[in-house]
Amino acid sequence: MTVLVAYATHSGATRTLAETLQDALRAEGLETDLVDLEESPDPARYEAVVLGSGVRIEAVEKTAASWARAHEGELARRPFAFFSCSGSAADPAKGGRQKATDAFLAALCLTPVAVRNFPGWVLMDRLPLRERVLLTSLRTPTGDFRDLPAVTAWGREIAPLLRG
Ligand SMILES: Cc1cc2nc3c(=O)[nH]c(=O)nc-3n(C[C@H](O)[C@H](O)[C@H](O)COP(=O)(O)O)c2cc1C
Repeated sequence: MTVLVAYATHSGATRTLAETLQDALRAEGLETDLVDLEESPDPARYEAVVLGSGVRIEAVEKTAASWARAHEGELARRPFAFFSCSGSAADPAKGGRQKATDAFLAALCLTPVAVRNFPGWVLMDRLPLRERVLLTSLRTPTGDFRDLPAVTAWGREIAPLLRG
């Protein structure tokens, strides 16, 4: 079986998480294709799908929301997992919750086999000036908060769920 690992990213962190996840799924014996949503992958070609999206202004990337809506029927017919990549997931006070993920999933008729909110990075040199200004005014913590071993562990955990 082949698993589609599709991702939507703005500053690149989600892609690195998706790459780590792909390695973990391959290590579990699953064939995987890693595809940027900009390439509009067709989920009907795959036996299972993992979608990852960065979070901006309390929402998943627009490409992720519109792709999931457009392919909702196909996603509902196969094992589907979702992960977000955000700044606030690094905050222990959030307890692993991410409003953007909850809102994204609430808008869809899907029952994912797994959902996880991972920390990403907030790196000013990867952002346009207007976003640097916004994040500075919000006093957003900056740095690389990724936990790649946690992504690998999640990959091991979800591999049997994706097999269905
Ligand atoms: C303009 C902007 C808005 C953001 N808004 C949020 C937010 O509402 N909640 C959050 O947890 N993280 C927020 N972040 C942090 C991103 O989620 C984080 O940088 C993540 O790594 C983005 O994924 P990407 O690098 O794949 O685009 C924001 C970042 C930017 C640049």
